[in-house]
Amino acid sequence: MTIVAPSLLSADFMNLADAINMLNESEADWLHLDVMDGRFVPNITFGMPIISQMKALTDKPLDVHLMIVEPEKYLEEFCQAGADILTVHAEACVHLHRTVMKIKELGMKAGVSLNPHTPVELLRDLVSEIDLVLLMSVNPGFGGQSFIENTYNKTRRMRAIADEQGTPLTIEIDGGVTDKNALKLVEAGADALVAGSYVFGADDPKARIASLKV
Ligand code: DX5
Ligand code: ZN
Repeated sequence: MTIVAPSLLSADFMNLADAINMLNESEADWLHLDVMDGRFVPNITFGMPIISQMKALTDKPLDVHLMIVEPEKYLEEFCQAGADILTVHAEACVHLHRTVMKIKELGMKAGVSLNPHTPVELLRDLVSEIDLVLLMSVNPGFGGQSFIENTYNKTRRMRAIADEQGTPLTIEIDGGVTDKNALKLVEAGADALVAGSYVFGADDPKARIASLKV
């Protein structure tokens, strides 16, 4: 069954505890947390203090997506805050292999995210070391943008690279995900879907989450 990871970016920040309680009761598998620094992306969100408070409210894994420059400086801190999966952007890491190894050494699952323009072939020599690839299907920075169609093609190519090497890999898609593209993404090779505005923009967010379990 598809892993569904609602993004709290589109939740009401003044009522985060309510949003987390709703997710606890829903079919959501992971909580997707978008950390932005105003440098790697043109927006700023939240960091470790908020994440550690969220951690106390849920038993579901925290899927932390770092959209920050020099993420290697903060790996221990995100680990302590409660990240279960820690994803860094390939474009933000000069020594991506070293950063991935460090994330795993700390006991977290290691994810690497690629912007829409970054070819999946970049990960050919690293794929056997990583647990998860997060393919951005919008340009990172904001919720509510429209899905980039080339993502299907990238998903297929990423899955082919992992299969060629016989390595298990979770492929997660982030940006503009709805019930309209979920099935096609899973058919292309995706395992996990992030959804922000599609989930939190609805009167019945739990039903929206269920609709992504394709
Ligand atoms: C965007 C973030 C996403 C965002 C997705 O940079 O990485 O996780 O919350 O939002 P939607 O689902 O609205 O595109
Ligand atoms: Zn994200």
